[in-house]
Amino acid sequence: VTSKVTLRVNGQPRELTLDTRTTLLDALRENLHLTGTKKGCDQGQCGACTVLVDGRRINSCLSLAIMHDGAEITTIEGMGTPDKLHPMQAAFVKHDGFQCGYCTPGQICSAVAVIDEIRQGIPSHVTGDLNAKPLLSVDEIRERMSGNICRCGAYSNIIDAIKEVGG
Ligand code: FES
Repeated sequence: VTSKVTLRVNGQPRELTLDTRTTLLDALRENLHLTGTKKGCDQGQCGACTVLVDGRRINSCLSLAIMHDGAEITTIEGMGTPDKLHPMQAAFVKHDGFQCGYCTPGQICSAVAVIDEIRQGIPSHVTGDLNAKPLLSVDEIRERMSGNICRCGAYSNIIDAIKEVGG
């Protein structure tokens, strides 16, 4: 079964006719050729596929594209340009927040959302108590970024980058 869906991807309306079972991740990568968003586990466990939907982060491998008709999708391609990096991208470069780079698009999308979550006072899903700790403590960043796995183990540099942007 196919269905029409219009996604606003990085500010551009994109009309697609998709098998209704197509994940948002596959629609981005296979149909729109936006391969910055990575497929790691395809099971919601690694965070490589993280994108923003109306400003909130999701694992795009766990979500069907047709669920997002009319939504604003932001991928790493929409974050910045080579000449003008997004501040989070620039911080990752400055702090070497990557080694192989495979997880980096998802890390950066997630990190941008983390800063917004904290600024909006959205409680962390584990502690549920944002006020118990200073904003953007290392523990807070670690916990909020725990859905993004880095197999190279660049975690401390990733945290330094996020702390610089949000601190
Ligand atoms: Fe989606 Fe791993 S590819 S969480």
